[in-house]
Amino acid sequence: MALSLTILVGTMTGTADLVAQEVQTALETAGHAASIRMMDDLDASVFHPGGMFLICTSTYGQGDVPDNAQALYASLESERPDLSAVTYGVIALGDLTYKDTFCEGGMRFDTLLTELGARRVGEILKHDASSGTLPEEIAAQWIVPWAELAMVASTDTLAGKTTDAVSE
Ligand SMILES: Cc1cc2nc3c(=O)[nH]c(=O)nc-3n(C[C@H](O)[C@H](O)[C@H](O)COP(=O)(O)O)c2cc1C
Repeated sequence: MALSLTILVGTMTGTADLVAQEVQTALETAGHAASIRMMDDLDASVFHPGGMFLICTSTYGQGDVPDNAQALYASLESERPDLSAVTYGVIALGDLTYKDTFCEGGMRFDTLLTELGARRVGEILKHDASSGTLPEEIAAQWIVPWAELAMVASTDTLAGKTTDAVSE
């Protein structure tokens, strides 16, 4: 069985897009299918009728989502669709220099999606830009075990199980 997922990219200066491309390559190498959509001009309907998503976003301002993610985030907040058919993961880019708002862009999406009934697979990957590591390399390694967890979650969904989020 292979995954088919959509990577939604929130970015200001392109890092999250680069990360998404490396993750897409790693997923395709592992036999999965992944498409990338920039969050620009998207609204809550992107999650209809459900499926597997990966949120890949940076953080700006005072722990805000980037400009190109604002409309999607606001649409989810105002329309509050039922996302119980959505399973997702989160790659959150940030910088620990902003210690009070570290990676909050990705964490805000996580909180909102969970509130709306979506199920998160695994833990959030948080990358610190001040660490000296390359987020695209970290993410390309992280995505392989994440995809294994996501396949278990997909199997459970197909089997009609309604257990809590698959996480470790
Ligand atoms: C003006 C500015 C504000 C930022 N604010 C935060 C923040 O509040 N929290 C955080 O964790 N990172 C913050 N960052 C760091 C970025 O999220 C990080 O560098 C990220 O890798 C950028 O990814 P992008 O190129 O996809 O936008 C900020 C960076 C800049 C330049």
